[in-house]
Amino acid sequence: MFKIQENRPNCIHINLIPNAKFLTGHYTMKVYATELSWRITPYNTQRKVSLLALILILFAFIHLLTNNCQSPLLFRYFKTSDVRGIALEKKCDIFSGNWVPHPEEPYYSNESCHLMIDQHNCMKLGRPDKEFMNWRWKPNECELPLFNPAQFLELVRGKSMTFVGDSVGRNQMQSLLCLLSSVAYPEDISHKYSSNTDYFKRYFYADYRFTLAIFWSPFLVKSSDADPNGHSLNSLMNLYLDEADEAWAKEVENFDYVIVSAGQWFFRPLIYNENSKVIGCHKCFIKNMTAVTKYYGYRMAFRTAFRTLQSLKNYKGITFLRTFSPSHFENGDWNKGGNCARTRPFTSQEMKLEGYAMEFYLTQVEELRAAEKEGTKRGLKFRLLDTTEIMLLRPDGHPNQYGQSPHKNVAVNDCVHWCLPGPVDAWNEFLLYMMKTEGQRSLQGRL
Ligand SMILES: *[C@@H]1O[C@H](CO)[C@@H](O)[C@H](O)[C@H]1NC(C)=O
Ligand SMILES: *[C@@H]1O[C@H](CO)[C@@H](O)[C@H](O)[C@H]1NC(C)=O
Repeated sequence: MFKIQENRPNCIHINLIPNAKFLTGHYTMKVYATELSWRITPYNTQRKVSLLALILILFAFIHLLTNNCQSPLLFRYFKTSDVRGIALEKKCDIFSGNWVPHPEEPYYSNESCHLMIDQHNCMKLGRPDKEFMNWRWKPNECELPLFNPAQFLELVRGKSMTFVGDSVGRNQMQSLLCLLSSVAYPEDISHKYSSNTDYFKRYFYADYRFTLAIFWSPFLVKSSDADPNGHSLNSLMNLYLDEADEAWAKEVENFDYVIVSAGQWFFRPLIYNENSKVIGCHKCFIKNMTAVTKYYGYRMAFRTAFRTLQSLKNYKGITFLRTFSPSHFENGDWNKGGNCARTRPFTSQEMKLEGYAMEFYLTQVEELRAAEKEGTKRGLKFRLLDTTEIMLLRPDGHPNQYGQSPHKNVAVNDCVHWCLPGPVDAWNEFLLYMMKTEGQRSLQGRL
């Protein structure tokens, strides 16, 4: 059996060994030898096999001559257009692709969507360029359908969805509110559930009996301030790595869709606790406290979050991990005048996933994979909303100086959040696509 993987237009690779992509669990297309044999149906099986072998050797030879593909274990075979005609057991990897120009009007504007908050309303705050709105994600292997708000609302009729995470998770929820706003507006019922209605939101779409919520939990695990000077953007905090944050853990059990994410907060100075004891710290500069990396804290936070979901008796939801959202500070760190003034995406040649962003990404994906495996034992689904590399290519999508920081007394450029409308809308295109795919899978399961 061969595994075929498309890495760039017009170049299909047959991998004879699994490559790194399998580690991150991307979907791949599978082509079986019998499916390849459609070209040679008049012959008997034995001759098919030897002919196939001959073809492979021939292509391997051509490959060695042209050396078009990077790994010697990858053989250039045939064009993508050839493959599309074949009835493949095809699952499209929607997360491998490119940003392509899309000169249409965006889904919504700051005038048509009444739920946009200033933090994302870059146009209101004076952003002069608009080209960043005119790109769409194009998977290599298929089309990513446009976001269809009516279809989304039908799919979630009578159901509930919540985001668990920080303000970048909130960013995705705000995008979803705007994407749905052409069909329906919800009632804001936050005050019935929380006194902290800036951070804990609950919306109800009455016509669809659909609840949409966010539980503010930037670390996913329990935390508390530990800085003698009080809380600030970069103050020292305590993390309790083996205790889920009750702010979401107590509330999440009956939700049908849970989108978990975490990121930038793990860069700050942190004291790590396990079993109620200090085990070390990150960037805390406290004498004789063991230095522990941010990756350790990040890993344990996801591990605890996923285990908590597994342990909730009545939880039957689908959990999505929306992967690390990279920032794009240039010319300095976030607190040293850094900015993000680009107006166009990077190409995937210009920007590669590496360094801390890759570590964060791989760390959380490993934890998701472990949870996915464990989850199957009791029928729980854990899925990867794999947006890290995609967003790495969008340095142009951030508010920069045209976003109002929620901490209004601090003047920093925002190269963390995403303008609305903007590339973050793609996250909800992926989400809808995946929800539909899950629906089809469970239908197939029942038949
Ligand atoms: C929307 O953006 C425009 C600039 O494109 C701005 O003039 C206007 O005030 C904004 N409207 C709202 C409601 O934010
Ligand atoms: C730090 O080290 C000193 C000297 O070894 C010791 O007396 C003190 O208790 C330690 N502090 C902590 C917080 O472990």
